[in-house]
Parts: sequence; C-alpha cells; structure tokens
Amino acid sequence: MKKILLSVALMVASISLHATDANYQVVPLPQSVTAEKGAPFVLEVFTSINVASKDDAMRRNGEFLKQYITEATGITLDDQNKKGNTIILKLNPKIENEEGYVITIKAKTITIEGKTPRGVFYGVQTLRKSLPLEKAKSVTFPAARIVDYPRFGYRGTMLDCARHYFKMDFIKEFIDMLALHNINTFHWHLTEDQGWRVQIDRYPKLTEIGSKRAQTVIGRMTGLYDDTPYGGYYTKDEMREVVKYAADRYITVIPEIDMPGHMLGALAAYPELGCTGGPYKVAEQWGVFPDILCAGNPKTYEFVNNVLDEIVDIFPSKYIHIGGDEAPRVRWQHCPRCQAEIKRLGLKGSNGFSAEAQLQAYFMNQVAKHLESKGRNIIGWDEILEGDVDKGTTVMSWRGVNGGIEAAKRGLDAIMTPTTYYYLDFYQKPDNRMILIGNMLPVETTYSYNPVPDDAAPELKKHVKGVQANLWTEYIIGRDLAFFQILPRVAAMAETAWTENNKKDFASFKTRETRLNELYKHFGWKTCQDLYKEKK
Ligand code: ACM
Ligand code: ZN
Repeated sequence: MKKILLSVALMVASISLHATDANYQVVPLPQSVTAEKGAPFVLEVFTSINVASKDDAMRRNGEFLKQYITEATGITLDDQNKKGNTIILKLNPKIENEEGYVITIKAKTITIEGKTPRGVFYGVQTLRKSLPLEKAKSVTFPAARIVDYPRFGYRGTMLDCARHYFKMDFIKEFIDMLALHNINTFHWHLTEDQGWRVQIDRYPKLTEIGSKRAQTVIGRMTGLYDDTPYGGYYTKDEMREVVKYAADRYITVIPEIDMPGHMLGALAAYPELGCTGGPYKVAEQWGVFPDILCAGNPKTYEFVNNVLDEIVDIFPSKYIHIGGDEAPRVRWQHCPRCQAEIKRLGLKGSNGFSAEAQLQAYFMNQVAKHLESKGRNIIGWDEILEGDVDKGTTVMSWRGVNGGIEAAKRGLDAIMTPTTYYYLDFYQKPDNRMILIGNMLPVETTYSYNPVPDDAAPELKKHVKGVQANLWTEYIIGRDLAFFQILPRVAAMAETAWTENNKKDFASFKTRETRLNELYKHFGWKTCQDLYKEKK
C-alpha cells in the first residue's frame, strides 16, 4: 500500500512540475533593477553556463550557480548541450566597483559581468535569490538589466566560538549564510575567559588546559552549575580549511585574539602571565573578570607576539582583531610590575584617562607595531580609544555609535557594530521560553540603522568603512538557536551594508525577506518568524 501511495505521490509531483517566474526583488536590494523590452529568458535543462574566463575563481562561480539552480528548482543543467540558451559569466574592467556587477537578461542570454570574480559572485547570488524555491520544469526571467554595487566595503558578522564551541560543519554553514547575504567578512572570536579555542604550537597548554572548563553555569547566573566538562578547539588545519572555504565565497576571515582582558583561558594555562601569578581557572560563568594579562611583564609581550605570529601564519587577512574590550585595570593598580612599567614609560594619567588606561593603550600599540612589522593592521573594540592609538588602528564601535564618531574625529577608520542595532544575542521579541542575555532588539530596529546619514560630518563619511552584526554565545548553545538569533536580523544588517540608504524600505524588505525565508527553511534554518506574519 505504502508503495502505491508513494508512486501516486511521485506521479502527482511530476505532473505538477510547471513553469515559474524569477523575481529580482531580493535581499539585499540591488541598487537598480530596470525592466527591458523583449522576450524573457527561459531557463530549463538545456540552458548552459558559459564561463568566459580561464580564471579558477570564475569557474567556481559557474559551479556555484549550477548548484544553486538545482537546489532551488530541481533543474540540473545539461552541461553537454550547446543548443539551448546561455548564462554567460564574464569579467568587465569597465565596471567601477571591485564588488559591483551588471546582469543583462535577454531572450537568448543572461550575462553576469563583474570587474572581478568577486563582483560576478554577487551577481550569481542575486540571480540565485531571484529563483523561485519550487521544483520546476522551467523558470522565466523577464528581460531586465540589474546594475549593482555595495554601499560599504566592509560587511561583517562576528561569531563567538569561545563561550560556546561550534563544530566545523556549522562554521561552513554559517559562511554559506554570510555569502547568501553578500557579507564579505567573518569576524571569528576565538579566545575567551571561558575557553581558548586555537591551536598554538609554541604554547600547547593553551588548548590542553585553556580550552576546557570544568562546568558551566546553568541559566542566567543562577549560581548552579551543570557539573559537565566543556571544551573544544580548532586545529591549524581546520582553521586553514575555514579560511579557504570562506575565500572561495569571497569572505575574509578576521580572527580575534582578545587581550589584555577576557584572557582567563590563557591564564589558566600560563599563570605567570597574570599580575598575581594565579592560580587561575577557565571561567565557568559569564561576565567580566578582574584577572587580565600583566602589562608590566616582558614575558606577556613575548607571549602575545609569538601567538600572533602563528595566527598571521594561518589567517592572511589584512586586519587582525586584538580585542581590548572590558579589561578592568584593578590588578594593574596593585601590581608592582605594572606600576614599574607605568613609571618607566612616564605615564601620568591625562585627558580623563588614568595611567593604567594609558598602559593599556601602550600595550595595544606595542602589539599593533608588531603586527605592522608583518604587514598587518589591528582592529580593536572602542575601549581602545581610551588613550593614544596607533594610527593604523580600526575601531569597532560597540558601546553605541560614539566610539565610531570619536575614531573618525581622530582620523581612524571605524566599523559600526552598536549594541543598539547589531547585537544578535538580544531578544527579538518577548519570549518566556528562552533564556538569553537580555535586552530587546526587534528586526525593525536593526533595519532602521543608518551609520552615515546624509548630513554626517565629512570625517564620518570618510572613515566609516562598514557595519557588522555580532553573535555572542553565552546563551547560544548550538546551531538551531544560533540561526534563530541570526536571521532575519543579519539580513536587515546586510541590506544596510549593501543598499544605498535612500532605497531602503522596511515594508519592501519584509516582502522580499519573506521570499528568502523559503530558502532558509530549505536549509533547515529555524529563524524567528515574526517578521513574516501578517500583522492584524
Ligand atoms: C563586547 O561586546 N564586549 C565587545
Ligand atoms: Zn601586572
């Protein structure tokens, strides 16, 4: 009986395969979509993809497109057939923006052109998101011309893999999700009080000891613990695999080694690097801890430089994030070595900053100089502005937007990632079932942000390089909850990052995002559905 039912179901499915239409209203919204006169392009099994370049990256773009078409529609293009119509991928040096592209849809051809393979990739993403998500015999693309480029060059998302460790499969899925939204930077937060998650050959105890916590607090700081050891780290091979997987999707991985605070993982392994000498343990609850790296000990500088030497060997990114946030300086106030260093450097405290704050600035600048000697620049959280800052520094403005404004005034580049719009660990709606860190950040609010208004100061216009959403994971224990917190808010951030502000419109975003949600469901990403429901 079951077999009969199955074959009837298959028959119905194949009879109902039909022609469907593409829709260019995607997320993020392209800068310009113009309907053209003429017959549409009909994609079907005999359509071929013609990559007009020998470039490996372009060939990969073609493979991605083929795979996306099958994924959405069930149509597997017949590579051998040369009689059908053609999707042409090609480079066009006349396109101005490095990430820009033009798609021209005519009866016989769809042409995706970019100045670079990266631009072509975003054209491929737009074409992919135009596809209906249903099994189809053919898909009709109305004649049109799409001209597109990103508003900002930096479009990022941070994932904290230290409070909770995420397996390689998830990291790749996360990167796929970024690519789908035209995001080009994966900020990988790798070290914390609650766990050190990177293999460093020179300091094996970082992973032997520092990656493991004995137990984890239950709920929101209840004082109760789960009595279960927790750990995990990424090997060098795994991190290189992530860098390659991301690069194939035009995503740069920026690693973060957070210092001098949030370092209990390292201190548990090498207690001599702390002001008191320990003993320390890998943190079992969340928060900000007073024990940080000792900035008066030459061994600390040696340690940090050696760790970063191994990090730059794995991660080719121009920028290395060195944290700088939430570092209480109480131990430094009482540490003879830190105080001696303050004296040696002649730090007195000025401009509202204590001598200890200036010691942190000195520490960060020393690290910046070391990285500059390797051709890299640092990114730091906005606390880095509490003192003089190395001129190659980029500031991540997280405690609101003022850090970014101040950075720009000082002639430093800034990336806007304010809690008020972009902290994905916050609630999206009141929900008694879930224990999260707190606060409320509905997708409407995320969407509403404009980092550089038209009337912004010229220095802000010059120095704000882009935006980023952050997923801190104290309460985000695994894949399903991660995607629930990420989407659709990352899509809202991505539209601000990509689409010019005067083209943004929340009602339109809602309609377009509702279509994209079908693809999320296809991937098994159980996202917050509130946006998609009709409001009564
Ligand atoms: C941060 O949220 N501590 C950067
Ligand atoms: Zn000290």
